[in-house]
Amino acid sequence: MIRYLLPALLAIAAQPAAAGGDGRYLYILHCSGCHVPDGSGSTEGRIPRLDGVTGHFQKIPEGRKLVIQVPGVMNSGLNDADVVALMNWLVPHFAGDSLSAPFVPYTAGEVAAARTSRPLDIFAARRKVTAKLRKQGIEIADY
Ligand code: HEC
Repeated sequence: MIRYLLPALLAIAAQPAAAGGDGRYLYILHCSGCHVPDGSGSTEGRIPRLDGVTGHFQKIPEGRKLVIQVPGVMNSGLNDADVVALMNWLVPHFAGDSLSAPFVPYTAGEVAAARTSRPLDIFAARRKVTAKLRKQGIEIADY
C-alpha cells in the first residue's frame, strides 16, 4: 500500500498547507491506504471500488446512510464535521456517471444519527442496499 500512499502524500505535501477539514486531504490520510488514491480499491485485498460507484449509493436513503456507516469511516476517529467534509468531497469526486441527480451534501446531524444506528452486520446491510438498487436496474459489483 505504501507505494500508492507515498506518492500521493508527497503530492499533497507539495501543495499549499491543507487545513484540517479538507476532504481530499482527509481521504489521502485516512482512506487511501486501503481504497487507493484513485478510489479503485483492490480485488485481492477485498477493498470495494469507490470510483464510478459512490453515486449509486446516493440513490436510496439506506445506501446514502450505509456509506458513512462502514467501519472505515465510523472507526476512523474523524468527528462528525470531518466526516461531512470528507464525504462531501469524496462522493462528487469519485461518483462519475454513477451520480444521476445533484449530490445532496451530508450534514453533521445526519452523520451523528448514522453513528447511533449502525447496522450490526455491515455486509448484510450492504446486500440489502445492493438488492434494492438492483431492482432499479443498478448493478453494484461485489468485492
Ligand atoms: C483498513 C482498510 C480500510 C480503510 C482505512 C478504509 N476502508 Fe472503506 N472499506 C474497507 C472495506 C474492507 C470495506 C468493505 C466493508 C467492510 O469490510 O467494512 C470498505 C467499505 C467502504 C465503503 C462502502 C463501499 C461499498 O461498495 O460498499 C465506503 C464508501 C468506504 N469504505 C469509504 C471509506 C472512507 C471514506 C474511508 C476513510 C475515512 C475508508 N473507507 C477507510 C476498507 C477500508
